[in-house]
Amino acid sequence: MFSLLARSVTLKRLASQYGMTPNGFARRFIAGETVTEAIAAARTLQGRGMRVALDYLGESVNTTKAATAAAREYVQLIETIVDSGIERNLSLKLTQLGLTIDKATCVDNLRRIMEPAARHDFFVRIDMESSEFTQLTLEVFETLWKLDFRNVGIALQSSLHRTEQDVRRMNELGARVRLVKGAYKEPKSVAFQQKADVDAAYMRQMRLLLDHGVYPAIATHDAHIITETRNYAGERQLGKDHFEFQMLYGIRRDLQTSLVADGYRMRVYIPFGREWFQYFMRRLGERPANVGFVLRAMLGEKSG
Ligand code: FDA
Repeated sequence: MFSLLARSVTLKRLASQYGMTPNGFARRFIAGETVTEAIAAARTLQGRGMRVALDYLGESVNTTKAATAAAREYVQLIETIVDSGIERNLSLKLTQLGLTIDKATCVDNLRRIMEPAARHDFFVRIDMESSEFTQLTLEVFETLWKLDFRNVGIALQSSLHRTEQDVRRMNELGARVRLVKGAYKEPKSVAFQQKADVDAAYMRQMRLLLDHGVYPAIATHDAHIITETRNYAGERQLGKDHFEFQMLYGIRRDLQTSLVADGYRMRVYIPFGREWFQYFMRRLGERPANVGFVLRAMLGEKSG
């Protein structure tokens, strides 16, 4: 249902109008529409002992011009982050850089970003999108890897049947993986349909990454999996600097804080930019209770 709603033009127009006002309902999940707001959010989180990754929102770009413009914006963002002094860590989506147009355009755009990123010592994580792009995303990642970029990592989704093999491949390369459950509705031919199966796959892959991976990111808000990760790392006597936890901006802030208090590395993924609607709809879809939260915020706004 949420993927259908995400395509609704009327809803998008309404959301754009009300969502990002100073107390707008989308602000819980998105730092703002401008880089200045994202940097302010990053400073606040860093002040609380957290690490950060900035994500300039955008996806499904379908013209070469728009994809090149997005790459330029990322290059500009690199300069702005360097000047700001916040941590140098970015996340991006390949469909924002032209993956739906063709692979070569996307690789060119990604290289345009990776070069200044490497010069300025940034780490760049490639997000994983819906399954029609998994193979292509991994191919683009490996192209960059073969070009000797080592400041790049990839996200893998434990909901997909193929992921265990992809985890092994990334471990073999020595590439950094962010393990997520997967935010897209996928057919049963490619993905587990039951939450219990996704969670079990996540646990297996978490262990593979802790045992054989390079500085994995355990990206989940699932308190049970987080406890299991802590226990497993403890049993294996892995230091707290062997991996990091990651969570999304505005989600399970209590858990983010308690992990930092317990001495774990905690990175918060901070999305920002004008193209926030699709990201926002995925967050609503993950948790029906969020719809109530949004409705209350909207009603509060109207009466306030
Ligand atoms: P699960 O969905 O089981 O939720 C566990 C608990 O977390 C819930 O009970 C609730 O308390 C809380 N929670 C989860 N989602 C919430 C929400 N939207 N609002 C409020 N509470 C919520 N996906 C992807 O396909 N490609 C990617 O590249 C990324 N990148 C990424 C980066 C980072 C840092 C994170 C944390 C997540 C992603 N994701 C992602 C999203 C991921 O695939 C997944 O959809 C969400 O993290 C929700 O799954 P959980 O692992 O939190 O578990």
